[in-house]
Amino acid sequence: MEQYVIKGGTPLSGSVDIGGAKNAALGLLAAAIMTDEDVTIDNLPNVNDVNVLLGAIEDIGATVKRIDEHTVRINGSTIDSLSVDYDYIKKIRASYYLLGALLGKYKKAEVALPGGCAIGARPIDLHLKGFRALGANVDTKYGLVSAEAEALYGSHIYMDKVSVGATINVLMAAALAEGKTIIENAAKEPHVVDVANFLNSMGANIRGAGTDVIRVVGVERLHGTTYSVIPDQIEAGTFMCAAAATHGNVLIRNVIPKHLEATSAKLADAGCIIQEYDDALRVIASDVELRRTTVTTLPYPGFPTDMQPQMTVVLGLANGVSTVTESIFENRFKYVNELARMGGQIQVESNIAIITGTDKYTGARVAAPDLRAGAALVIAGLAASDGVTIVDDIHFIQRGYEAFEEKLRGIGANIERVSGEHEIQKFILKVS
Ligand code: UD1
Repeated sequence: MEQYVIKGGTPLSGSVDIGGAKNAALGLLAAAIMTDEDVTIDNLPNVNDVNVLLGAIEDIGATVKRIDEHTVRINGSTIDSLSVDYDYIKKIRASYYLLGALLGKYKKAEVALPGGCAIGARPIDLHLKGFRALGANVDTKYGLVSAEAEALYGSHIYMDKVSVGATINVLMAAALAEGKTIIENAAKEPHVVDVANFLNSMGANIRGAGTDVIRVVGVERLHGTTYSVIPDQIEAGTFMCAAAATHGNVLIRNVIPKHLEATSAKLADAGCIIQEYDDALRVIASDVELRRTTVTTLPYPGFPTDMQPQMTVVLGLANGVSTVTESIFENRFKYVNELARMGGQIQVESNIAIITGTDKYTGARVAAPDLRAGAALVIAGLAASDGVTIVDDIHFIQRGYEAFEEKLRGIGANIERVSGEHEIQKFILKVS
């Protein structure tokens, strides 16, 4: 088991390069199997979730060729199974994108039914409603979802709730349905737009992605393409919060500042100076006193739920009482107990965290409860000027952050990835 060990208190400074968006990559990789021609995707983040999905894609028979660390070539002509194993779904929920991709291409697919996860129950009823509207028979039994159709027909689908996953899944199936599909109340996240652009580059006819209404005119087949994944807004936002919490001054490169507006606006509310460039953004928090603010997570362009824990850590160091309302997932404040062990003063009432700012965090041994909360605890450790922080269960963090500790070291953090008690003690001796 590996840990991060952190001696905090150093303001982060310098510049950091952001990789491709994990959540966009997962949609693109699944969609890549929808043609029998070669698809090359670059700017892929080398993170565990992406590698697990590539494993699932290989497992159903597609050909996956790693060109380099961030580039892969996929060929879906060799697919010989339409059934995605539970092992993959268990490790990464987004394996269910293969349902939409396989159903669109072969009109038949089966994946294990994903269960809940650390942050909430996460039903997939809207995905299934969408497939049914396109004419598929969808069945859930024996822990499996199976969907099958003679042919898929375009349809008018209203999403009762804004769902990234359902929008992407239905989009893929609709791309190869007969006739026109309208998805209303669609998710507008940048990765939904990225998947739509990707499918269009394969010959699909999708308009309106990035708005509430997506219109798809089905095509008979898709062709090969070469495509680059958009930058990861959550990785970028995480480094922005790390800069803020450590009173640093960091240039975050290779980003689309527009995608970061909600995070930028809240950090500015909290007193940070945000400078935007074409494809970079600087967070200046040196010599600023962090101020209280209120945050509510909402679908894009609202404040992302995936940035909620990191922002809470920043506000834990602000003057006054802040509130953070989580409106997307029902169980996303579990890390608060860990943060309390570092001196955070946070009370959770229903879906609202009431945060009384404190002067500083103190190092402690904590465990990452999930991916983003894990990253947030690392930020708290970087900000803690007193003591050493040890973060356990960092496999959660490795699901979505490439070379996290290396990138943080590049901007001055004293953080190491270690394995076991002996190495932890060695680090503590070195820094004390
Ligand atoms: C995606 C992201 C995840 C992010 C989330 C919200 C990926 C791989 N994951 O997850 O990192 O936190 O968006 O931005 O891109 N819901 C239903 N029924 C459904 C589907 C969703 O009720 O069929 C609910 C969910 O429980 C949740 C809300 O809708 O309350 C939004 O979920 P959704 O946007 O679907 O999240 P994911 O696609 O799972």
